[in-house]
Amino acid sequence: MSMFLGIDVGTSGTKAVLIDEVGVVMATAVGVHEPSAPRIGYSEQDPIDWWHSTVDAIGQVTRTAGISPQAIDAVGPTGQMHGLVALDASLEAVRPAILWNDQRSAPQCAEYEARIGIDTLISETGNRLLPGFTAPKLLWMREHEPELFAQIDKVLLPKDYIRYRLTGELAMDVSDASGTSVFACGRRTFSDSILAAMDLPRSWWPDAAESPEVVARVSPLAAEATGLRAGIPVVAGAGDQAASAVGMGLISEQVVGATLGTSGVMFAASDQWRTTPDGSLHAFCHAVPGRWHLMGVMLSAAGSVQWYRDRIAPDIADAAEAAGGNGLAELDRLAAATPVGAEGLFFLPYLSGERTPHPDPDARGCWIGLTGRHDRSHMMRAVLEGVTHGLRECLDLIRTTGITPGSTRLSGGGARSGLWRQLCADLFGTPITITNSTEGTAYGAALLAAVGAEAFDSVESACETAVTEVDRIEAGSDADTLEATHEVYRMLYPALHDAFKASARLHT
Ligand code: XUL
Repeated sequence: MSMFLGIDVGTSGTKAVLIDEVGVVMATAVGVHEPSAPRIGYSEQDPIDWWHSTVDAIGQVTRTAGISPQAIDAVGPTGQMHGLVALDASLEAVRPAILWNDQRSAPQCAEYEARIGIDTLISETGNRLLPGFTAPKLLWMREHEPELFAQIDKVLLPKDYIRYRLTGELAMDVSDASGTSVFACGRRTFSDSILAAMDLPRSWWPDAAESPEVVARVSPLAAEATGLRAGIPVVAGAGDQAASAVGMGLISEQVVGATLGTSGVMFAASDQWRTTPDGSLHAFCHAVPGRWHLMGVMLSAAGSVQWYRDRIAPDIADAAEAAGGNGLAELDRLAAATPVGAEGLFFLPYLSGERTPHPDPDARGCWIGLTGRHDRSHMMRAVLEGVTHGLRECLDLIRTTGITPGSTRLSGGGARSGLWRQLCADLFGTPITITNSTEGTAYGAALLAAVGAEAFDSVESACETAVTEVDRIEAGSDADTLEATHEVYRMLYPALHDAFKASARLHT
């Protein structure tokens, strides 16, 4: 029997998923690493911590499956996108990695968008410059850490650093390279013109391969550290969003995906290269060779619910848990008991600023429409509805590009909530489906490894074999009311935009 390993270098740990040759999950494991926030708006991690958590996760997953790591036949890496791993000529990191959620390069984004032009950036790369993306972090380093910047010889993304540790080889894939700001996604290659406009050398960036391509092999040194067999193939892999889409079978225009994770993602595969005129959706290469994807990212989706649980209603949740129940399920139950539309209460989920549909680091979370009748049950419902309204705005943006999905597959921790599933079915204008695939990102990377090792002919056939729909939810009787409240929701951010900016000026 052949076995394949997916490795997901996430923000709070590395997840390993082991699958067999038909895509059945044999075991999963997580090795922990910590993010660090040296200042407000900063988010960093030491790449060496990723390596330690990866070695740990490989050890755990093989022990859990009761196999030797020697039995694994190929590895697929994935991970948090956009993170800057800057290496010197001896391939040592010159500083901690700067992560996807780090906001420090906002001034450089504004400066270079003005210099290069937003239209040029979108037509060449598909995307605006965002502080989370990789190249703006290099522009920040050039300004603020010139001595370290001068030492840079190579740039990698988080999963590519793990591949480097596993194989000694430097490589990237097209889906992850798409989030660097210097990749011509339409042509699936680095953009010489944008690199030149930023005065960043092409030689820093490894060539980007298609995701299931074998680009390197496990080295004897890494074999010693991990127990893996030296010489087994390591595929190019994918950024976490594209890998997760493979794990969910989101490979055609007919089915879009909505992830209710800490952040919320609306994901659409695309047969052609499509962009939005203002760059409001990310336009990236897919992990399926020759396809692309569009994506809206909300920064606080299930993160808003977790915040509500921890900061606003911890007593209710803790009491439910002390009685052997589930805190979030109890908050859901209370929210479900209030009327749809929360009796005129809205929640804007911009607790960490926002990316899509409003790219605005200064946007802030708020409840709007409070009256003396409202209590925490209404507030919880408004949080769930608010995040769902935001995702609906992302889906409508996807529809403007010509994609007309027939259904939406839901994933992420929030998809466990029955109320939230129904809200999505009521607001999205498509039925909601749930798949058998629960391991998401690392699972998608394991499927890519299996394709690279020729256990499947293509990513499409891997998804057809491995991913099936297990539940379907249709719009219910609340759909019309929610549609009417959506029209009001859409008016709120534009009305508050100037106030958010003025407040940000006071508080930074
Ligand atoms: C995608 C994105 C996040 C990170 C962290 O654009 O920023 O999904 O990859 O998971």
